[in-house]
Amino acid sequence: MKKYHIEKNSVQETLIIPLFGRLVCSERFPQLFSDPEAKRICDALDYDASAMRKKMESPAGLFGALEVAQRQYDLGCEVESYLKTHPKAAVVNLGCGLDDTFRKVDNGRCRGYNLDFPDVIAVRNELLPAGEREKNVACDLNDFAWMDAVDATDGAVFYAAGVFYYFQTEQVKALFAAMAERFPGAALVFDVCNERGARLMRKTWLKEAGITDVRAFFSLEDEAALRGWSNRFASVRTKSYMRGYRDLAREVGPLYRLLIRLSDSLVRMKIVRIGFREAAASAPARGAGE
Ligand SMILES: C[S@@+](CC[C@H](N)C(=O)[O-])C[C@H]1O[C@@H](n2cnc3c(N)ncnc32)[C@H](O)[C@@H]1O
Repeated sequence: MKKYHIEKNSVQETLIIPLFGRLVCSERFPQLFSDPEAKRICDALDYDASAMRKKMESPAGLFGALEVAQRQYDLGCEVESYLKTHPKAAVVNLGCGLDDTFRKVDNGRCRGYNLDFPDVIAVRNELLPAGEREKNVACDLNDFAWMDAVDATDGAVFYAAGVFYYFQTEQVKALFAAMAERFPGAALVFDVCNERGARLMRKTWLKEAGITDVRAFFSLEDEAALRGWSNRFASVRTKSYMRGYRDLAREVGPLYRLLIRLSDSLVRMKIVRIGFREAAASAPARGAGE
C-alpha cells in the first residue's frame, strides 16, 4: 500500500497530533468518539507514531487526546448550529490537516472548503479527496487570496481547530479583521488557551513530537480583548472546551475530572465564536459589540 509523507519538523506535521488523538480516543473512549477514518488515514501515512502513541497511552497524554477529539466535536456542534439557519452555507475548515469534519456535519445542501498548505492538500487529495459540494484548497491563510475561493452567497461558517496557536497575534488580528470585512453575517469558531497553556503546549506536545522548529505564539487571557479588534464583530462568546457542548466531566474518572477543572481555570481552554456584522447594519464605534 502506498504511504503518504508529512514533512517533519514543520507546522504541517502538527496535524498528526489531533489525527492520532482522534484514533486513540476512538479506541479508548468508544462510547464518546467513533472515528474509523482516523485509523484508515494514520495507516496510510509513512509516519512513525510509536513515540506519540506511547505518550498518548499515559494519563496526561490520554487527556491531551481527549482534548483534541472533543475539540472536533465542539466545532462540529457550532457548524451544525450555524447550518440550522443557513443550510446552504459555505463550511470552511481553516488549517484542515486531515480532519474530516465536513463529512460529519454535511446536511446535503451546504458546501465544504478545506484549506491548508499545498503539501498537506496534496496528501489530503489522495486520502480525503473532495466529495460532491466540497473543495480542497491549497493556500497560506496569511495570504488573503484564499478568500476568493469561498462562495459565501448563502452564508459562511469558518472553523479552525488547533491552528491559530502557530500564528503571531498580529497575523490573527489581521486575518480576523479581513474576514469580518469580506464575509458579513458569517461566523468564525476556533479554540484558544491562555499563555500558560501555550507554554505547556510547546513543552509537551511539540517538544515530545520532535517538532522543535515550530513555535506556538497566539494565546488569549480574556476574550474581551477580541472585541476591540474590529468594528465588524457583532458578537464574541466563549464556551468551555471540555464542558460547553457536552459535559465530559460526567463521562470520565476523577483524575480527568480534575484535569478538566484545571483546563478551564488554569489554562483557560475555550472555544470562541465570533459573529460578523451583517452587511446592511451600520457599524457602531469600536468595542461596542455585545
Ligand atoms: C494542529 S494542525 C490541526 C489540523 C486540523 N485542524 C485538525 O484538527 O486535525 C494545524 C494545521 O494548520 C495548518 N496551518 C498552520 N498555519 C497555516 C497557514 N498559515 N496556512 C494554511 N494552513 C496552516 C497546518 O498545516 C496544519 O495542518
